[in-house]
Amino acid sequence: MDRSERVAIAKRIIEFYDKDRDEMGEVSWEADIGRFTDKARFDLEKQEFFLTRPQLIAYSGDFPESGDYYATEIAGRPILLVRGKDGVAHAFLNACRHRGVKLAEGCGNAKGFTCPYHGWTFALNGDLTSVPSRQSFEPEQLKERGLIELPLVEKHGVVLVHPQPSGHVDYDEFFGAEMGGIIADYNLEDFRLVGEYRAPARINWKHAVDGGLEGYHVPYLHPTTVGPGVLRQFLHLDYGLHQTLVSPMKQILDLKNVPEEEWPETLPYGFTNAIFPNTVVGGSKHIMFFQRSEPGEEPGTCTYIFRTYGPHKNATDETRAMAQYMTDLLMKTALEEDMAIQSSSQIQMEAGAVPSIVLGRREVNLIRMHQNHDRLIGHDAAEALGHTNMAAAAE
Ligand code: FES
Ligand SMILES: [Fe+2]
Repeated sequence: MDRSERVAIAKRIIEFYDKDRDEMGEVSWEADIGRFTDKARFDLEKQEFFLTRPQLIAYSGDFPESGDYYATEIAGRPILLVRGKDGVAHAFLNACRHRGVKLAEGCGNAKGFTCPYHGWTFALNGDLTSVPSRQSFEPEQLKERGLIELPLVEKHGVVLVHPQPSGHVDYDEFFGAEMGGIIADYNLEDFRLVGEYRAPARINWKHAVDGGLEGYHVPYLHPTTVGPGVLRQFLHLDYGLHQTLVSPMKQILDLKNVPEEEWPETLPYGFTNAIFPNTVVGGSKHIMFFQRSEPGEEPGTCTYIFRTYGPHKNATDETRAMAQYMTDLLMKTALEEDMAIQSSSQIQMEAGAVPSIVLGRREVNLIRMHQNHDRLIGHDAAEALGHTNMAAAAE
């Protein structure tokens, strides 16, 4: 994003502030809760949004050096990211080709991967290099038994993977020009992992994306963490299947006393980018975060992944301390505040306490996202609401 666009965003925030107004969308929207609770819809989403499309599943900083690996997943499909001897990143299905056992957990550095069941060993490039009692198999059976490789693109410090071996993945196609530019501007190549969290969560995966797309909740849910530092004049950018929330820092008001030519390169606002379907990324030169909520087995379950990264090149004690401080703040906000309240929403929906939801014009990015979802799977929210209302009327 060039300077004139960044300046225009700051001016727009200040203008809203001066008028004591918020940016709003055209319309508010009532939606059915099946999007959070319906099993058939949930299974369809896994298929249509996750398992047949490329996904932003990691930063380069998750496995920066040769031999580094990082085990993760796409909607339950186990993925092993590995950096080969030549520094090239690979993605494999994280499954032994003998009888399917998972080869690696977490992250680390390895020369290869030995299966814990019968000791088959695979090289960093996926080749099957050792089979105990090899003579017990026909040679033919061991040909083509290397790890199954998935299409991967690594660019500007992010890693895109297609969960199907025959899939197609391209950075520009995936992000589009504007979002691709926002991601490139972060210089993520220079960041390394600081904090990591991965655990089952009692939410539908979409709640975690919703939380990053609106600032409406920030003063109420985050009054002592991230709330005090921001103005309420959030902006909402729409990039097709991806959306960005712009969070203005209070210091942005200081710019009012400074001629525009003297405004700093980095302006006092941050972007939170929801990358279709479930990756949320953002941050600043001090700290970057990465969030994914991988759909679990039921609509109300997911694996919640939240990771933070600090600047690496030219790191000092001061930048490291800042990255740790911001990590603690973001983890507390994400887990104790956002996640806890999203679970309440999910459980209430499943308990039948919530006939529908209504999204206001300040939640415009959520409306866009949910309407995109509905369009992609041919779901008619109004019709679904009609059914709910008729059922309620009949009771
Ligand atoms: S399942 Fe991996 S060696 Fe048998
Ligand atoms: Fe939040």
